[in-house]
Amino acid sequence: MSSIAGSSVASSDGARIEVSSGSPLSGRIDVPGAKNSVLKLMAASLLGDGSCTITNAPAIIDVTIMADLLQALGAEVHIESGSITITAAQVHCVEPPADLVERMRASVNLLGPLLTRYGRVRLALPGGDDFGARPIDMHIAGLEAMGARVTLGERHLEATSAGLHGADIAFDFPSVGATENIVTAAVLATGMTVIDGAAREPEVVDLCRFLVGMGAEIEGIGGPRLTVRGTSGRPLGSVEHRVVPDRIQAATYIAAVAVSGGRLEIVDARPDDMEMFLRRCAEMGLEIEEWSDGRSDGIVVAREGRIRAVDVQTLPYPGIATDYKPLVITMLSVANGSAVVTENLYPGRFRYIDELTRLGADIRTEGHHALVRGVPNLRGCPVRAHDIRAGAAMVVAGLAAQGTTTITGVEHIDRGYDDLVGRLRSVGAHITRLGEAGSAL
Ligand code: UD1
Repeated sequence: MSSIAGSSVASSDGARIEVSSGSPLSGRIDVPGAKNSVLKLMAASLLGDGSCTITNAPAIIDVTIMADLLQALGAEVHIESGSITITAAQVHCVEPPADLVERMRASVNLLGPLLTRYGRVRLALPGGDDFGARPIDMHIAGLEAMGARVTLGERHLEATSAGLHGADIAFDFPSVGATENIVTAAVLATGMTVIDGAAREPEVVDLCRFLVGMGAEIEGIGGPRLTVRGTSGRPLGSVEHRVVPDRIQAATYIAAVAVSGGRLEIVDARPDDMEMFLRRCAEMGLEIEEWSDGRSDGIVVAREGRIRAVDVQTLPYPGIATDYKPLVITMLSVANGSAVVTENLYPGRFRYIDELTRLGADIRTEGHHALVRGVPNLRGCPVRAHDIRAGAAMVVAGLAAQGTTTITGVEHIDRGYDDLVGRLRSVGAHITRLGEAGSAL
C-alpha cells in the first residue's frame, strides 16, 4: 500500500460520465502538471541518494501506480497535496512487480535508472494505451551500445551490466521513451554519451532539467543532440522541481471551447510548448491569446460561430503531438468543411473513431489518414473510452452532442486527467460523474 497522504484520486470502478451540450463555457481552468513528465521524474528519482521533491504533480491513477512501483523496489514515497517526495537510498529490488508494470507505458522508464544504478533489471514488457505495437528496440540498442547485455523474453526483458560506459548513439526517429531511458542511464555511466536525433518534447526537457537539478551534467537540452557526462557510478543528489504543465490537458480545454463556444482563461498553459497546435487552432477560427495577470500566465481561448476545417498531421515535437489527435478529430467533426488528419506515429491510433461515428460524426479512415467531414451537431449516445486521450475526446464530443452522451471506460481517463469533470463543470459545462464510491488513495 502506498504511503499516499491527502491525495484524492477517485476510484473508477463502475464510473461513468454523462455530458451534454449547453451554454458557452466561461471562466478559468488551471492546468495540472504533465502525466508524461511526472512519471518519468518519479522513475529518475531512483538515480539519487537524497530526497527528490516533485511539485505540481497531478492527482491521477498513473502517479499512484508509479508510487507503488517505487515502493515495491524499496524507495520511500510520500504524496501530499500535489507534492511527491521520493527517497531511493534503500532500494533493495530490481524486479518491479509485473502486475503494476503492465498497467502503463511509463514503467519502461524504470529501465535506464535501475540498470545504470544497480547493474541489473528484470522488467515485464510495459503496457499502456492500446493503440498498436509499441516496440522498445531503440531503448535496447542504445543500452547495448553503452555496454548492457539485454535478453528479451516473451513477456519480460532482463538487462545486466558491470558498469555502463558512454557511447555515441544516433536515433533514426526521435523516440521520447528511448531518449529518456538513454539519458537516465548515461548520467551515472562512465564517460560521455552523445545522443543524436534526440526527442525534444517539453516533457523530455523537463526530465533533463530535473536531472541537472540532481547534479547531472547534460548539454543541448531542448535540441536534437544531447551530451551527457556520466558520474562513473556516483549517485546524484537531491532536488526540488515543479512539473511542467500538461499541454495535452490544456489542449483538451481548448477543444472544449472549440465545440461549445465561449471564452476560457487556461491558467499555467505554456503557449511556447503548444505552438504548432495553437497555430492550427487559430486557422480553425479560434481566438488564441497569451495571457498574464502578473502572478500567473497562460492562454485565453475564445470562439464565436462554428470553427473551420483545417488539415492536420501528427509529428514529433515541435510538430503536432499524436496525443492531440483524438481532440483534433473531435473538433473537426463539427467544423465547417472537410479535413484530412494524418497520423505519422501510431498507425493504429484510430480506434475511437467508431465511437465518434456512433455519435453522428462523418469520418472515413484509409491507412494512416482520416477524412473528417464536419456536421453541424453530434447526437448523444452511450460510448466507451478506449484510452486516455480518446476518453477525453469522448467528453469533448459529448459537449458537441445534442442529448446525453454516457461515457464508460472512465478508468482510462482517470489514468491521465486530474478532475476533468470538475474542471469542466466549474466553467459551465453540463457534465456529471456517476456510479462510483470514490475513495482517497
Ligand atoms: C510517449 C508518450 C505518448 C506519446 C508518444 C509520442 C509517455 C508515457 N507516452 O510514448 O503519450 O504519444 O511519446 O509523443 O510519455 N518506437 C520504435 N521503437 C522504439 C521506441 C519507439 O519503433 O524503441 C516507435 C513507436 O512505435 C512509435 C514512435 O516510435 O511509432 C514514437 O514512440 P515514442 O516517441 O517512443 O513514444 P513513447 O515514449 O512510447
